[in-house]
Amino acid sequence: MRIRGPSRVTGALHVPGDKSISHRVAMLASIAYGSTTISGFASSADCHATLDCVRRLGIDAENANGKIMIHGHGLRGYQAQVQPVKLFVGNSGSTIRMLGGILAGQHLVSEVDGDASIRRRPMARIVEPLTLMGATINGREGNFAPLTIRGSRLRAIDYHSKVASAQVKSCVLFAGLFAEGITTVTEPAQSRNHSELMLQEFGARLELDDEADVHRYRIEGGTELTAVDYVVPGDVSSAAFFMAAATVLPDSNLRIDGVNLNPTRTAFIEVLKDLGATIQRENVTTKHFEPIGDLHISSRQLKSEKGGLILSGNIIPNLIDEIPILAIVGTQVEGRLEVRDARELRIKESDRIKTVAAGIRAMGGEIEEFEDGFAVTGPQQLSGGRIETAGDHRIAMAFSIAGLLAAGETEIIGADCAEVSFPEFYELLSTVTGGSVIADS
Ligand code: S3P
Repeated sequence: MRIRGPSRVTGALHVPGDKSISHRVAMLASIAYGSTTISGFASSADCHATLDCVRRLGIDAENANGKIMIHGHGLRGYQAQVQPVKLFVGNSGSTIRMLGGILAGQHLVSEVDGDASIRRRPMARIVEPLTLMGATINGREGNFAPLTIRGSRLRAIDYHSKVASAQVKSCVLFAGLFAEGITTVTEPAQSRNHSELMLQEFGARLELDDEADVHRYRIEGGTELTAVDYVVPGDVSSAAFFMAAATVLPDSNLRIDGVNLNPTRTAFIEVLKDLGATIQRENVTTKHFEPIGDLHISSRQLKSEKGGLILSGNIIPNLIDEIPILAIVGTQVEGRLEVRDARELRIKESDRIKTVAAGIRAMGGEIEEFEDGFAVTGPQQLSGGRIETAGDHRIAMAFSIAGLLAAGETEIIGADCAEVSFPEFYELLSTVTGGSVIADS
């Protein structure tokens, strides 16, 4: 993909269905009793990998008039003629980690594999709690994919997760559905809470203990789930690229409709506002316990207070997927922006601290790299450059926005990986920029 800058964005758009919510609704529908109809299911390749996995587990998941219908047979309704049943998650960490919790409670053996990036990502974080619950899991060189998961009768545990990871929390809560007794999960800082909200929507017995310093969840095993009609809202992490563009590209004005505004996902909006952005929320409603609304954004010169803005601690899990695009925004802020406590970035789809720093430098920008984050001081004039995405969708999209800021042309090598979360990205970007995106075949 070639991006021609400088440009601006105008108009209105819808972003595709939320990736985190789509994974969860597909998984919970697959173990509920009855037929769940899902509208607005994510177009992302990751979420389609989850659908493929549940189909291989004997669950009917059909595409009917743009909606997905999943016919579940209850908690232990998965079936496989040949075992181990081989599942392939592609690039999707959410699929392997969260579905792992369900597979641990089934009476079958599965082997879960993914692409080269998945094979590098740590799985000990789910292998440990699931083993404590009674599942037998064998990985390559210990705890790497492919994972062979031998499901079993599970016992409830009281688990204190070392990482604020929604995937780990969800994995243990999903496994808790199959355990005898009450499973508790405590996380060191609050991560996105879609699983907790959705488990309640499907009728699970779940209690939340969400206070300032305690994020603990209790789930009772053995309760069957009931199918629901679910409407998936737009993905705020996909919207973030367009919010950033509308804020930092002069003379921009954009509306993004129907976006999920769950407060465990919106720190990026708050950070932009702290830096002076104008982002208005309109028509906010609640569906399935999730807030949804429209966003109206217009451009502003951003500024950090004297001494700079330092983002660290509890805000990081709430911002984690938006950090690559935040780094691009940082190059346009008058003053310094520093991100710390974000070591998790090193074990995402790519080492995002390294890929972000390399990309900014390739565009003639400056960035200071730390073991757990980075700092940028702006405003900087970026030049066009050649960006290696390392197969990471959020790097491809973040640097496409950087390309719109640059004087000259930016080449995104391996741009196709955007389909992992947002297949319509370049087409939408081309529409709102009036043609600044050129596809090289
Ligand atoms: C996700 C949780 C986060 C996030 C990922 C999606 C989820 O990962 O980065 O893109 O849907 O639960 P971690 O749980 O590894 O922090």
